[in-house]
Amino acid sequence: VKNSFAERMNILRASDIREILKITQRPEVISFAGGLPAPEFFPSREIAQVACRVLEREGARALQYSTTEGHARLREQIATRINAKWDTTLSADEILITTGSQQGLDLIGKIFLDRDDVVICESPTYLGAVMAFNTYRPRWIEVPTDDEGMDMLELEAALARERKVKFIYVVPNFQNPSGRTWSLQRRKDLMALASRYEVPLVEDNPYGELRFGVEAFPAIQSMDPSDLVISLGTLSKIFCPGLRIGWIAARRRFLDKLIVVKQGADLHSSTFDQMVAAEYLDSYDIDENIGRILVAYQARRNVMVKALELEMPEGVRFSRPQGGLFLWVELPEVIDSRDLLAKCLEHNVAFVPGGSFFPARNRHNTLRLNFSNMPEDRIVEGIRRMATALREMLAEHVGHPDPAHEASSAI
Ligand SMILES: Cc1ncc(COP(=O)(O)O)c(C=O)c1O
Repeated sequence: VKNSFAERMNILRASDIREILKITQRPEVISFAGGLPAPEFFPSREIAQVACRVLEREGARALQYSTTEGHARLREQIATRINAKWDTTLSADEILITTGSQQGLDLIGKIFLDRDDVVICESPTYLGAVMAFNTYRPRWIEVPTDDEGMDMLELEAALARERKVKFIYVVPNFQNPSGRTWSLQRRKDLMALASRYEVPLVEDNPYGELRFGVEAFPAIQSMDPSDLVISLGTLSKIFCPGLRIGWIAARRRFLDKLIVVKQGADLHSSTFDQMVAAEYLDSYDIDENIGRILVAYQARRNVMVKALELEMPEGVRFSRPQGGLFLWVELPEVIDSRDLLAKCLEHNVAFVPGGSFFPARNRHNTLRLNFSNMPEDRIVEGIRRMATALREMLAEHVGHPDPAHEASSAI
């Protein structure tokens, strides 16, 4: 079958994360690898009750085909919720329910991207977006990004230079993988540039509600004078990911096209799951549940930061995110985080090497740590083991300096 596969299959490959996650299924492994929420906060009992209620009350409807746009009540609830949280002015009609926001990314790729079109993204960016958009074979422009967001001069240069920019993709709150949050000013500047160049802006916001006591900045979509922002949201991190409920919120000129391609992809997301989610949102206070999640995640973030401060050797830098699920680590340049991972796996600790989060795959001394999914004692132990492995590698490097590194420092 060698010649049967589409050309795109030459560039698509299994995600590093999926490979690592297979190993981390083993219970003895301390995993900082996945982006998994803490399962102890899934409201299983409440979901069982609302699922029964939905089936008893409207079983025929819940188990039948339904519209591509999604369950009407859920669309209403989502529009109301995001308008209240993010200062937007969306109607239920401007919400498309998707099978996770991951499907939203794929649909966005499908409506915008032909081969060699340009996607502008942060550096680093969300690996799942790279995978979703790469199906359509775009060119990536990674804009250097600091703690406040993209470098606006570089962004403007790219917009001025490139003819085929189809959209800019950003994760402005507690980004996956870096944990960064864009400042208010950069959000405004980004919106101004997108408007000036009339480029759609994809704002992916799965983590915005996972804030550890800090104030929220408004969504970029709320500052949009030209209706250019397409936002993505999800119940995965504030409720549970297994139901696969996400959404795209955008004006109808985008939504109409997205509905067409969603119909081709899966007709609609699960009617039953949507109705269960809607019934839960009508019956319980989801914010109360989010409050409980936040207490645990903040404590785990604190424990991880403290363990890194105590254990890591000099030359290691790491972020101190104010929310979300991830912390970003930069190692001394001589260390390739994939080698560190191999060593750590021998000691039953896993993380995701950072190279995959750069479309050009060129920053190998970085890595991503998830702090939401492990209890505190395992976080401390895992960081200790990582630090030991790293020290050993650094000691080896002192003995045998990396020839490539020597050459580059000599230039
Ligand atoms: C930035 C970002 N976007 C989208 C997703 C996809 O989430 P889901 O499909 O569960 O909504 C994730 C998941 O980790 C993510 O980190």
